[in-house]
Amino acid sequence: MLSLIPFFFLLPRCVFAPDLRPCTFLRPAQFARVAYCSSASITAWTCGTPCEALKNITFLQSGGNQGTIPLYYIAHDADGEALVVAHEGTDAKNILSILNDAEFGLVPLNASRFPETAGQNITVHSGFQETFERTADGLLAGVMSGLASTGVKKVLVTGHSLGAALATMTGAMIKDAVDPSVEVSVVGFGLPRGGNPAWADFLDNGVGVTFMTNQNDPVPVVPPKFLGFQHSSGEVHIVDDTQQNFVACPGQDNENCSTGNNVLDSSVQNHLGPYFDDITFGGSQCSS
Ligand SMILES: *[C@@H]1O[C@H](CO)[C@@H](O)[C@H](O)[C@H]1NC(C)=O
Ligand SMILES: *[C@@H]1O[C@H](CO)[C@@H](O)[C@H](O)[C@H]1NC(C)=O
Ligand SMILES: *[C@@H]1O[C@H](CO)[C@@H](O)[C@H](O)[C@H]1NC(C)=O
Ligand SMILES: *[C@@H]1O[C@H](CO)[C@@H](O)[C@H](O)[C@H]1NC(C)=O
Repeated sequence: MLSLIPFFFLLPRCVFAPDLRPCTFLRPAQFARVAYCSSASITAWTCGTPCEALKNITFLQSGGNQGTIPLYYIAHDADGEALVVAHEGTDAKNILSILNDAEFGLVPLNASRFPETAGQNITVHSGFQETFERTADGLLAGVMSGLASTGVKKVLVTGHSLGAALATMTGAMIKDAVDPSVEVSVVGFGLPRGGNPAWADFLDNGVGVTFMTNQNDPVPVVPPKFLGFQHSSGEVHIVDDTQQNFVACPGQDNENCSTGNNVLDSSVQNHLGPYFDDITFGGSQCSS
């Protein structure tokens, strides 16, 4: 499969080559990594390596409880002139059991939150939507007041694993709520499938999602397509463990990337990383 991949490109140092694609992933990955650290250390921005990698950050708000409700935080990134919303994920074993649990099928998207989708037959993973709804109102209020108080015109929403699935819903919600002059971007890592083809199209035509998948991570290929799930566009796939080789995967569920993986090769370690620049998710790089 790998020999068919049309092109490779090196991971640049972002300071030297700010426009090359992997650079668009570095800061989102750093913010998503922080979301796994303890709530107190995020509030004080003293979580060790993950926090030290990000300068000039002002913590604004967090929610969730790092237990039944995954944590999210909102911060002001002065250097990026953006608000950042990052969702904590969950461990690989837990996300796989959520994704393989038949109880969590597809349910209609909450049309009261996304009124413009009425009649579009959009369905999403019930567990993701339930989890998203637990913090959605407070999160949105925090983003609106953060935009007003900082004056920035960009919102980055990011997360890994379950956190990436929540980031897609959060990004769509924020895009709906903000002035069109505010740029909203969603960047995910180890993103599972979160809804039906109509949901994938809604994301593609709306906020747009970019997501990085690592080699034989099993999470991006569940829940399976035969149960009615579909990825949006925007996948960038890591093809080996050199932390250097990436391939863009045009379209939805491109068979040259994760979707074409052989389940027999799946690696839970690939879900955690490292992805690139030695970024690993799940909290192992946090000081607390
Ligand atoms: C997969 O790769 C092959 C060979 O490079 C290419 O011809 C094909 O169009 C690719 N498929 C997709 C969906 O991009
Ligand atoms: C970021 O912090 C550095 C010092 O740590 C400072 O020189 C720079 O002006 C700060 N940038 C912004 C946008 O605040
Ligand atoms: C649907 O969204 C509305 C906000 O528009 C919220 O108040 C309500 O709780 C959500 N419903 C469910 C079932 O989560
Ligand atoms: C809604 O979408 C599902 C696929 O997710 C499809 O099977 C079903 O026929 C669609 N229903 C309508 C009314 O379009």
